[in-house]
Amino acid sequence: MSYYQQHHSQFLEGLQAFLRIPSVSTLSEHKGDVRRAAEFVRDELRAAGMTTAELIEGNGNPLVYAEWLGAPGKPTILFYGHYDVQPPDPLDEWKSPPFEPQIRGDDIFARGSADDKGQVYIQIKAVEGLLKATGRLPVNAKFLIEGEEETGGDHIEAYVKSKPSRLRADAAVVCDTEMVSAELPTICIGLRGIVYGELWVEGADHDLHSGVYGGAAPNPLQALAEIVCALKDREGHIRIPGFYDGVLPPGPKEREAWARLPFNEEEYTHKEMGARELVGEPGVPLFERLWARPTFEIHGIRGGFTGQGAKTVIPARAMAKISTRLVANQRPEKAAEQLKAAIQAACPKGVTAEFRLIHMGAPSLTNPGNRFIHAAADAMKQVFGRETVYVRSGGSIPIVGIFEEYLGIPSVMMGFGLPDDNLHAPNEKFHLPNFFRGIESIGRYLEVLGK
Ligand code: BES
Ligand code: MN
Ligand code: MN
Repeated sequence: MSYYQQHHSQFLEGLQAFLRIPSVSTLSEHKGDVRRAAEFVRDELRAAGMTTAELIEGNGNPLVYAEWLGAPGKPTILFYGHYDVQPPDPLDEWKSPPFEPQIRGDDIFARGSADDKGQVYIQIKAVEGLLKATGRLPVNAKFLIEGEEETGGDHIEAYVKSKPSRLRADAAVVCDTEMVSAELPTICIGLRGIVYGELWVEGADHDLHSGVYGGAAPNPLQALAEIVCALKDREGHIRIPGFYDGVLPPGPKEREAWARLPFNEEEYTHKEMGARELVGEPGVPLFERLWARPTFEIHGIRGGFTGQGAKTVIPARAMAKISTRLVANQRPEKAAEQLKAAIQAACPKGVTAEFRLIHMGAPSLTNPGNRFIHAAADAMKQVFGRETVYVRSGGSIPIVGIFEEYLGIPSVMMGFGLPDDNLHAPNEKFHLPNFFRGIESIGRYLEVLGK
């Protein structure tokens, strides 16, 4: 029996301890928990046998850095993941408390179980297994684990920019994506980018009686609704001038491969999403809408009276959280400018509108024809016993573009989540068989690369 097989229960206990730390990066009351999670990762990396394992302080939550460089002449792999998690609300929809991990069937339920603590833990345990069993690694390894991925924080970008030589590697391994299904090993080669911000609309300088002033007073909520409706039509097509100029359509081979993926639209719509029907650009196949087309979304609207009963008021201001997802080759800076201009153009009389940027990240598209991706596909095939498939994802992981830009390295996205893991939602879970196969896959990957 291998080290990995002998340590299933220790791995599971360690994962549970990690999941118990409520490291919600967007809520300031969890600052201390966020730091505890960073320390947990550092201590685990040290115990695994990495020669260096330290916290890196800076503007934002600590980064965790670790290295083992005892294989001169062999490639160097930079492992990336994040220890921060999304807020757990709505709390009353969880079947077990979000920070008290519970195993039900083959799944472990907790906030961060799939996104991304379970997957960070896979990386750590894979390296631990090799170091404990053989005293060394087949390649050189560095870890850079961050604590503000979910909030689009800048700490990691500033660090990568300032320390390219310390982080020098041949490829990054990012475990933060998902597989097509539990049995089908999957490598993600494309991610969408994002521009996220607030849209502020202001009318009069104080709230007004809606009977006395209605008919003359500008209404910021109405104006906000008009603006967002002007940005996307009823068929899901974005109406920001020039927005689609940079959009690179998928090639025929990739399109065909997507059409061959096992997929049940009924299940996806009614079970996984719990929706009535799918929407979006007519005539554009689903995977293309999700992976290769930009989006515009509203995440929340605040303004006016939403309490119990009725209050007849014309509010002075309104705000919406909005974002657009970008695809290769759109550029976030340009998209943000186009969005701002479109907001101004759509702003009705009597109000002002302002877009306040919160964060942005570039889309990424990796050419799968490099040896680091081939080796990953091979390692996953060996562990799962099936041919590895290549997909893209609609989500965003800004570091992939940053590694490309500042370190000049490709990212190998070996993810072990599943489509129904409820990321960012109540009852997030991680499929335990994939947790263990993930550890084996990363271990095997390093062996393949070291040959
Ligand atoms: N791990 C996700 C992104 C993801 C999910 C990739 C599923 C592939 C499959 C990541 O933690 C995430 O949620 N990112 C944010 C980005 C951000 C800048 C806030 C996102 O996509 O909303
Ligand atoms: Mn993630
Ligand atoms: Mn996430």
